[in-house]
Amino acid sequence: MKAQTETTMQKDQDSPENFQSDVLNGLRHFPKKLFSKYFYDEKGDKLFQQIMNMPEYYLTGCELDIFKNKTQELAESIIANDEPFDLIELGAGDATKSSYLLKYLVGRGADFTYMPIDISGNILSVLQHKFKAELPTLEVVTLQGDYFDMLEKATSISEKRKVVLFLGGNIGNMELDESVHFCRELRRKLHSGDSLIIGFDLKKNPHVILNAYNDAAGITARFNLNLLDRINRQLNADFDLKKFQHYQTYDPISGACRSFLISLEEQQVTISNNRVKFEENEVIAMEISQKFSETDIQSLAAKSGFYIINEIKDSKNWFIDSVWQVI
Ligand code: TRP
Repeated sequence: MKAQTETTMQKDQDSPENFQSDVLNGLRHFPKKLFSKYFYDEKGDKLFQQIMNMPEYYLTGCELDIFKNKTQELAESIIANDEPFDLIELGAGDATKSSYLLKYLVGRGADFTYMPIDISGNILSVLQHKFKAELPTLEVVTLQGDYFDMLEKATSISEKRKVVLFLGGNIGNMELDESVHFCRELRRKLHSGDSLIIGFDLKKNPHVILNAYNDAAGITARFNLNLLDRINRQLNADFDLKKFQHYQTYDPISGACRSFLISLEEQQVTISNNRVKFEENEVIAMEISQKFSETDIQSLAAKSGFYIINEIKDSKNWFIDSVWQVI
């Protein structure tokens, strides 16, 4: 039986200076935009928990269905020839989904180390305690910081085969050209024989998609507006939240589902002594949640140097965990 190792590699969180310059640059850009990575402050985390519990927001449930009910298929596609491996999860969060896979792999006697990467040191220490209690034989090395920096770190501390998990449809929160760039970067950090399990939300009835991001109770609207509130609190700004309105679109042809905030009147906002002007009806682009067809996924894999070895769908066929191997 292996002892659990508790190694945490620290890296600075996003600094207030970066937050301020990202916000100011984004709002000086045309069209105006804000980065969705800043949604997740303490209040944003709570609102996102509420989004995941909304009846309209199907994504989490679909991928959970895969991890709960297709665990063996997932596991078999990464175990290969019983060689030891490192299982690296990008943006592990509380690892609700992956813990089904981890339990299965431990039960199956697979020889692997779990390396969750997350920007939040807090969530990583929660994870460590959880696994210590629930899966005491699992070897865990937590890596706090940026995905690629920490992926590099993971490759520098172990030469074992790598299996990377990138779940939750997070790939959809990039513009298409960015997702190609991201997968190519991932490919550059990996070696022949390494693999990747990547979650994609599939194109489906446009109403289903739009409703998931435009809920009747207005939680998604509050989630978007919370970023303005965070800027008020942390960057000494004076956004009047009543003067901004959430607007959501889904384009079934491109598969882009986008969140915007509309300025309801001509106005001026001060952010740490910097002035930003808004026209009436000017929009801030907040977030993209790209949806994919199976052909879109194949083309992304091919463009970035991977081939698809397995595709695992939920029972509704709404979500896919695609298993890729380095060419
Ligand atoms: N980024 C996640 C997604 O695309 C979470 C999310 C749900 C979200 N609704 C949102 C992010 C609205 C920003 C705005 O599914």
